[in-house]
Amino acid sequence: MSIISSLSPRAVAAPESGIVEVVNYARGREGLLPLWVGEGDLPTPDFINQAAMQALAAGETFYTWQRGIPELRQALSDYYFRHFGIRLAPEHFYVTGSGMQAIQIAVQALTAPGDEFVYLTPAWPNIAAALEIAGARSVGVELQFEGGTWAVDLNRVETAITPKTRGLFINTPSNPTGWTATKKDLADILALARKHDLWIMADEIYARYFYAGGRAPSFLDVMEPGDKVIFVNSFSKNWSMTGWRVGWIVAPPETGQVLENLIQYSTSGVAQFMQKGAVAALNEGDAFVQSNIEKATRSRDILCETLIATNRVETLKPDGALYAFLKIKEVGCLFGRFCLIMSRAIMRNDGEVDEAKAFPRNALVIAWRTLPRIIHDVDALERGRRHDRPGAEPAIDDRIAAHQLPYDLIETALPHGAP
Ligand SMILES: Cc1ncc(COP(=O)(O)O)c(C=O)c1O
Repeated sequence: MSIISSLSPRAVAAPESGIVEVVNYARGREGLLPLWVGEGDLPTPDFINQAAMQALAAGETFYTWQRGIPELRQALSDYYFRHFGIRLAPEHFYVTGSGMQAIQIAVQALTAPGDEFVYLTPAWPNIAAALEIAGARSVGVELQFEGGTWAVDLNRVETAITPKTRGLFINTPSNPTGWTATKKDLADILALARKHDLWIMADEIYARYFYAGGRAPSFLDVMEPGDKVIFVNSFSKNWSMTGWRVGWIVAPPETGQVLENLIQYSTSGVAQFMQKGAVAALNEGDAFVQSNIEKATRSRDILCETLIATNRVETLKPDGALYAFLKIKEVGCLFGRFCLIMSRAIMRNDGEVDEAKAFPRNALVIAWRTLPRIIHDVDALERGRRHDRPGAEPAIDDRIAAHQLPYDLIETALPHGAP
């Protein structure tokens, strides 16, 4: 028996992350612009780092609270009061080792092997993978792209519910589409969950990146005490802390012992000095988050307007989150092939998308961080080939012809040195 076939079939079946594959390829290579992950270009601000460093210097290096240090759970409670207008006691909050681990813990708390969980597609691939690793079945329901915007069709969601369904995973604002549920959408989804006695796993990690102003509508706006909603969230995006791996769960206090146990048997708690950094982020970070949101707004405008101006893609200026999601109109041209090859590398795990409908599987997602120059350059190159230098094949096109692997194109196509 081979080593691999002696491993757990569920572990072996876990899909390789296309995002990680691209990142791994890029490590150590010069002159690449990072198109692949959803994060800003700023390092964590100093006031957060200082708080963590002071805790380290003070010897806060021992085992700590499983649910999170009391100071951080209080700071989370205060944060929700400031930004969501709701006073939740600290007992509602559980600190986790990232948003991803918050999802893992929620999946473990809510599903048994054979259960089903419905989620909306196109989707960030990790939620389906987390469910499948737990032995649950992820059931994708497509968002509809109609009238230039994304919308959820509740009838389709209800049709996907079976006696095995344990819950609905709702990511709003969404990675990658930017779909942002209205308060009515949320009330309708909640009503559906109540009707079928389902849990909602609410991923509102991008709630602050809502471009109409303020924050995105939240299940907190429509739910009542006793509703079965578990929120997963993260310090990653708001406070430029992607590398810290700290997140949190908001859940009914009755679930406390179960969640504490799941934390104990996975990480046994997040390092206390990192939690001290997180406390500073929440208590002193409102202005920093606001500046991040303003930066993202400008990036969204430039990137989406640049994309739309090429007239080569179907896309929109999304209401929320940090991504441009686009359909390539003309796959045969240089720009189209560039997008397509990029998308194969990035989106190919998103197997639930029906290629015939909505945006095809080969749609491209671009994090705001990606500077629009890349779009502009490839577009200009294409136009140059067509109009200014008829017959002259740009080097990039030769490369595409010569190499089928996406990486060659990514490497060759990117302008050297960040603008
Ligand atoms: C929708 C969504 N949820 C959760 C996460 C996890 O965030 P992290 O593990 O960095 O805290 C991400 C990361 O990109 C995401 O896009």
